[in-house]
Amino acid sequence: MQAAGKLMKVFVTRRIPQEGMKILSAAGVCEVSLWDSDEPVQRAELLKGVQGADGLLCLLSDKIDAEVLDAAGPNLKVISTLSVGFDHMALDEIKKRGIRVGYTPDVLTDATAELTVALLLATARRLPEGVEEVKNGGWSSWKPLWLCGYGLSGSTVGVIGLGRIGLAIARRLMPFGVKRLLYSGRTVKAHAAEVNGEFVPLDTLVSESDFIVVSCSLTPETQGLCDKALFSKMKNTAVFVNSSRGTVVNQEDLYEALSSGQIAAAGLDVTTPEPLPTDHPLLTLKNCVVLPHIGSATYSTRGIMGALSAQNLLGGLQGTAMPSELTF
Ligand code: NDP
Ligand code: DGY
Repeated sequence: MQAAGKLMKVFVTRRIPQEGMKILSAAGVCEVSLWDSDEPVQRAELLKGVQGADGLLCLLSDKIDAEVLDAAGPNLKVISTLSVGFDHMALDEIKKRGIRVGYTPDVLTDATAELTVALLLATARRLPEGVEEVKNGGWSSWKPLWLCGYGLSGSTVGVIGLGRIGLAIARRLMPFGVKRLLYSGRTVKAHAAEVNGEFVPLDTLVSESDFIVVSCSLTPETQGLCDKALFSKMKNTAVFVNSSRGTVVNQEDLYEALSSGQIAAAGLDVTTPEPLPTDHPLLTLKNCVVLPHIGSATYSTRGIMGALSAQNLLGGLQGTAMPSELTF
């Protein structure tokens, strides 16, 4: 607990929404040191900034490992991440040191699901190509065989990881006339009943789906899950969409699958690395739509994420309940 009159030290690794900063200053229990930039904190600055901190508010682009925890030292009580994903944090090391972790589940589910559906439709119906043709004069007339894509009506959709976001994506897709909703994961989900979801082995999902959506968390088991072997089982007409984490996909294998016509198209909100270099081979393909990791990027969602991450941090600093504490 805080000694009378002494403010606890907090390091915030980026400019975050005002909603979060206001909560931290209004609480009057901590002194905030901010990496006052929209760009990621450099590693050396992170190691310096965290020294002696009681709390750390970080982003998914900050690798929180033993080196950072050692640099912080024994005062560190809480790490609050402005994300639902926590694959950037070495949980085993954090646990060893008895540090609590806050994250931002639920509040970004709708925004991320909405963006994933937008990406799926943009990819399947070739929207970026169409927009480009209008601008570059490629639009000569209405042509029966031009810019045709794939529709959801009567289709089979496969969701890899029917968690909070996976379910929210499925809910939004069903009204488009989806005939079957398949999902795979480690466990059967009771909530799948809401979308008539059928739990199937991954191989069945990829071979029977017209649209494959990846919405699982990144774990040692899901890293590189979508590789040559998996793409080779997909239909040639399959549309593949990933809004989980870039490293769930083997991008070299995806490039091969897209350029050889093994699958029809891919939409990616997440890549490896981020940002994807502008000369990356995937960016040369018309049938690959890449977005800059904007799943949760609505003004209101980011504001709520900022507020939640601040409340989580305060809970950890004061030894009280956090609104969203990660149990691990
Ligand atoms: P949840 O924990 O609710 O869902 C994760 C799902 O992944 C669970 O259903 C889990 O299934 C599944 N999963 C775990 N291992 C596997 C596996 N081996 N094969 C298939 N599925 C698996 O998390 P959220 O839905 O809230 O978030 C999911 C992820 O989305 C985040 O971890 C993050 O990486 C990403 N994300 C991306 C955003 C963006 O901007 N693009 C925004 C927000 C999140 P089971 O329970 O059976 O293990
Ligand atoms: C997350 O929260 O994990 C996303 O990737 C960004 O909102």
